[in-house]
Amino acid sequence: MEKARIAVLVSGGGTNLQALIDAQQNGILKSGAIRVVISNNRDAYALTRAAKFGIAGEVVLKKELGSQGAFEDRIKEILNQYQIDVIVLAGFMSILSQSFTSCYPKRILNIHPSLIPSFCGEGFYGLRVHEAALNYGVKVTGATVHFVNEIPDGGEIILQKAVDIQPDDTPETLQKRVMEQAEWIILPAAVEQVCSQL
Ligand code: GAR
Repeated sequence: MEKARIAVLVSGGGTNLQALIDAQQNGILKSGAIRVVISNNRDAYALTRAAKFGIAGEVVLKKELGSQGAFEDRIKEILNQYQIDVIVLAGFMSILSQSFTSCYPKRILNIHPSLIPSFCGEGFYGLRVHEAALNYGVKVTGATVHFVNEIPDGGEIILQKAVDIQPDDTPETLQKRVMEQAEWIILPAAVEQVCSQL
């Protein structure tokens, strides 16, 4: 069986991309292979991580392309060029429109750093999610991998994992623990699950 062809969309540090690369190396991710990393930020360290492993990197800047439509058209062009089957949003800090998401039903996965439906939707990204969980006072948070549809963070849930909040947590310590104990585990597992079922 040929491996599913994966594109990973990133914006920043790329630790979730790294978890996918590691999973590919150690065989946890065996039904798919990352063919291209697409960044909407020229300086994303994720691009360096990709290059280190010989994975192609592409930069797509909305500012240069002028509109959301042109931005998404360029991403689609790259996805076509690399004959991509599965798209993974791994810390991709830009919301994709319905005209984009409807082209890839059940083919786009996203990792979100909370237990959806808590602390999710527009405006909830990165550290803000953990700030909101701490402000609310929940004692358990976690991460969710879900399919992407037209509702921000509203698509079908694939995997979730809970993480306890500690009394002295700051947004930064909580973000780190959620990554280590949940995100880096469930993202590769969910990608493998989806790729193995194509
Ligand atoms: C991760 O915590 C990811 O779950 C979150 O941004 C961080 C990116 O880190 N994504 C969102 O908040 C999406 N709404 P990374 O670049 O090191 O993977």
